[in-house]
Amino acid sequence: MEAQPYAAAPDDSPVLGSLPVEPLLTAEFDADPGAVYRRLRSRHGPVAPVGLMGVPVWLVLGYREVLDVLRGECQWRRDIRYWRARAQGELPSGWPLLAGYEVRQTMFMDDEEHRAARQTLHTALRPFQEARGPQGWELRAAVSRYADDLVALLAAESGSAGFADLGAQYTRPLLLMVTTRLFGCPVELGDELVMDLWRMLDGGLGAEPATARALAAFTRLAAHRRARPGDDLTSYLLLADPHLSDEQLGRELFMNAVYLNDITGNMVLNTLLEVIRGNATVRRSLSAGQPGETVDRAALANPPVANMCFRFAARDVPLGNYWIRAGDAVSPSAAAAHQDLLALGTSRLVGPAVSARSHLGWGAGQHQCPMAARALAGVLVDQAVGRILDHLATVELTLPPDQLPWRTGPVVRGLRLLPVRYELSRPPRPARPHGQATGLLAGLKRLMSRAQG
Ligand code: HEM
Repeated sequence: MEAQPYAAAPDDSPVLGSLPVEPLLTAEFDADPGAVYRRLRSRHGPVAPVGLMGVPVWLVLGYREVLDVLRGECQWRRDIRYWRARAQGELPSGWPLLAGYEVRQTMFMDDEEHRAARQTLHTALRPFQEARGPQGWELRAAVSRYADDLVALLAAESGSAGFADLGAQYTRPLLLMVTTRLFGCPVELGDELVMDLWRMLDGGLGAEPATARALAAFTRLAAHRRARPGDDLTSYLLLADPHLSDEQLGRELFMNAVYLNDITGNMVLNTLLEVIRGNATVRRSLSAGQPGETVDRAALANPPVANMCFRFAARDVPLGNYWIRAGDAVSPSAAAAHQDLLALGTSRLVGPAVSARSHLGWGAGQHQCPMAARALAGVLVDQAVGRILDHLATVELTLPPDQLPWRTGPVVRGLRLLPVRYELSRPPRPARPHGQATGLLAGLKRLMSRAQG
């Protein structure tokens, strides 16, 4: 279909609300999203109408179409006020995904406001990105230390050989410790905060109160660092834009916390999974010390941001086999688009012939993951993965890969658990001395409070 800028949709082209839609979030999608993408594609072509918790939206499946949407800033708007169903009060009351979309931060801004917000984040992240600068160096050293502490804790709990969940016992606490330090949190950020971010992203039970709790926590942090600046991202954001109110800064921290904990955490787990199950290209790039390449390879196989947040059509426009009406919501699917790329590879695991850089795991266009954030994420994933593998003489999955439990929401796909049998490569150093508290949870709390330092 030829693109006709500014043309109105022909009267006889079907309207989103009139099409029969299949609900996206089903047990089948949980177990095998690839099969669902393939079926949608065979029925509808590169763009398909789907139901998201009772609301019809367009899912963009084709690689070329996803790129068109991500790069077409003037046609595909992020500001939620463009969404016709919302403006006309057509969303079901209490629709669980709305709470997250109503948090106005960089992701949901357009044009000049958006560019300024990105610049602020870029400036504030720069010191942590540069390995030779004191903040960057200290952050890297801290990540290694946290990783070693968590391995020592694991050894104290389960011995130098045993069973572990590398999600709950390693990756999640590690990223919470990093966030606590990077954000300059005076109080520990608990697992409950991560659960609240999950509830918001997945539109789970209580998404609205969970969003409100997390936002309130980050707004308090913003106020605290305004009064007592430190060597942390929160204080650097204020330095980069002193006009940010506590509420606005709280919203930006909230969104960055999602990327730092949930998305980066999933990337760590996905990378570990690819290594453990024997993805040769991921292993090779890891041992060659190419962190960017490692992340690219794992993101191509399994992008944590599987389906990106909505864009809203500014005008009627043809896409795939349909006309999208002004104000319709579309979700560009990196995971579905990657099927096109993987089809070029030689096997289920990506062959070296496919350039890993063509993946959409970082997004594309004006809203793609900012370079400074990508550099930071690359370092975190590399350190987190590299350090644990250093400690492990052997590691194997205790479940067949196709039985691993995945958490699949409208946006994120990530492992709930990464259950392994492990053997440490050397006797672990004794866990650091601690007071009365015993047990994994207490140990984690102590480590987290140390991360504030
Ligand atoms: C491996 C980890 C990460 C992955 C896979 C990732 C992926 C992405 C993707 C796909 C987008 C685009 C979303 C869209 O267009 O709808 C994005 C945007 C963004 N990411 Fe990342 N990200 C990661 C880590 C981080 C980290 C650590 C931070 C911050 C410290 C961060 C900050 C951001 C921000 C602020 C945006 C919004 C940019 C905008 O809308 O202009 N990301 N990321």
